[in-house]
Amino acid sequence: MEQFIIEGNRNLSGTIPVSGAKNAILPAMAACLLAPGTSTLHNVPHLIDLKTMSLLLRVLGAKVEMENDVLSIDASHIDSYEAPYELVNKMRASIYVLGPLLARLGIAKVSFPGGCAIGTRPVDLHLMAMEALGAHITVEHGYINAKADKLVGADIYFPKSSVGATINALMAAVLAKGVTSLFNAAMEPEIDATIDFLNLMGAQISGKGTTTLVIEGVEKLHPAEMEMIPDRIEAGTFLIAGALSTNPVTVTNCNPNHLTLPMEKLRASGCELEVENCSITVYPPEIIQPVDIITLPYPGFPTDLQAQFTVLMCLADGISFIEDTIFPDRFAHVAELNRLQADIRVEQNIARVKGVKKLSGAEVMATDLRASAALVLAGIAAEGKTVISRIYHIDRGYDHIEKKLNAIGAKITRS
Ligand code: EPZ
Repeated sequence: MEQFIIEGNRNLSGTIPVSGAKNAILPAMAACLLAPGTSTLHNVPHLIDLKTMSLLLRVLGAKVEMENDVLSIDASHIDSYEAPYELVNKMRASIYVLGPLLARLGIAKVSFPGGCAIGTRPVDLHLMAMEALGAHITVEHGYINAKADKLVGADIYFPKSSVGATINALMAAVLAKGVTSLFNAAMEPEIDATIDFLNLMGAQISGKGTTTLVIEGVEKLHPAEMEMIPDRIEAGTFLIAGALSTNPVTVTNCNPNHLTLPMEKLRASGCELEVENCSITVYPPEIIQPVDIITLPYPGFPTDLQAQFTVLMCLADGISFIEDTIFPDRFAHVAELNRLQADIRVEQNIARVKGVKKLSGAEVMATDLRASAALVLAGIAAEGKTVISRIYHIDRGYDHIEKKLNAIGAKITRS
């Protein structure tokens, strides 16, 4: 199993580019199932999660090809409606095929996703939305079986903001008969990107950027081509790397409009930021100030940056409180950071982080994608050598993170 060996070095400096957003590409790939023909996605990075989704689409009958950063998906023939356990088990976002399969074939069988390292993560809201659109759902032998002669538009109120359930509902409603309204829909930039892609395919969705989305069902969709949005979580991770450095770091190919709150929190920690159209330069502070954060649905602070921001607070001059309201159990990184001599205590869903003068390299274990990114940042900031095992987690969502960070001065070896 591969590991990262990191020689601590806080003298990062230079320019680091951001790739396309995994969490926008996954739904776009599933959306391709809605229309016969070949759709094309640009700015697609090499990530394990995207390979898993490619494999799933192939199992369903699509042809998937990747050349450089261009992904083509030919969904002319969809001859299976089953998302098997082996793939859903690897990646929960496999549930994204539920809506499109129901809409196109009127039937879907998707393995019921289990828990994962960041919590229990139910899918009840996905199923509620499908049922509201007229699907008959049963759960048997670990599989969700969904059937509908024809989906019919409905008013759907989400009791909780859910990125995945909003996306699945959108993808099912685009081909439903009549009008669907989604209330308390999620507003993440990845939802906007999904709406843009579906509308390019011929869907009629309005309300983008708000919590009420209205979908006028259409008879059929056609293939489309789109440039994928930059990954705001990768950008935020690199901004925090810059904040931990002793020199300025410029993050390029990003969309600063998607990072308003993370940038505000970085400024509160003492960083100066220079923001341009597609780039942000972070000038690190001499003394990092403690800053409290509470994760919330967009435009709130993203849970996917909680672990990385915690690393910055480990070296702050004082105490900060980090609360995760989205995934209350998402603190597996804390025990590992404490091995690097951080001083963090977790009570319920709040981490109390007491800043220390320095972190000290040690052997640690990656537990999930964003926790791994946090450990990489901590390893760079720590004195001495840090060895991170189980780094396959990080390859799920970061394209060659060690190469990108080494290009600005980090010393990370994969072995
Ligand atoms: C998406 O997960 C992302 N995944 C996650 O990123 C991200 O952490 C999360 O949104 C929150 O921003 C993808 O986009 C593939 P939710 P998702 O449905 O859609 C509860 C990463 O590291 N809920 O918005 O699964 C849920 O338990 C990953 O890239 C229900 O109760 O998240 C949570 O508390 C990790 N019932 C809250 O809603 C449901 O049916 C928000 O979850 C669905 C969700």
